[in-house]
Amino acid sequence: MNNRIAVVPGSFDPPTLGHLDVIRRAAALYDRLHVLVVHNPGKEAMLPIAQRLSLIEQSIADAGIEGDIVVASWSMGLLVDYVTDVGAGVLVKGIRSQVDVAYETPMAIVNRHLAAVETVFLLPDPSHALVSSSLVRQVAALGGDVAPFVPPAVARFLDPSGHHGG
Ligand code: PNS
Repeated sequence: MNNRIAVVPGSFDPPTLGHLDVIRRAAALYDRLHVLVVHNPGKEAMLPIAQRLSLIEQSIADAGIEGDIVVASWSMGLLVDYVTDVGAGVLVKGIRSQVDVAYETPMAIVNRHLAAVETVFLLPDPSHALVSSSLVRQVAALGGDVAPFVPPAVARFLDPSGHHGG
């Protein structure tokens, strides 16, 4: 295992500006980053996995985030199996609030028990503290403007008519 290789896992349904902020910060900290789209069976999906992959790739490129970044998906079992398969030693998650701490802590402890994988929590920019994929899904489904919350490529995909501002 290598503490210079990290995995940023999540549903990314859709990717938000908060996700991109965590990816940017993690890319600056680690030699190689795997941004991993994981199917969360507890959530009803809005976008197919392939679409989320392409939106993340496009958003990383548009934002000019540099580094050795692999974008991949995983639905074959435990997250830690991917982490150990690629020789990574660290999971990176963004923490917006105490609610996230409560949600992430049990997963971090289970992952450490399963495969001695450490989880590192990053604090995203406070401007993204209230952004979540689930709220973006709701706003998009009801015809609202998601552009303030998501990277431009995601906003264009969710509102292809440019109905909201352009
Ligand atoms: O963006 P999300 O939905 O909060 O991400 C949660 C995710 C997908 C990272 C989590 O559900 C997960 O790790 N799923 C993989 C299955 C797994 O390994 N479960 C056991 C350890 S938590």
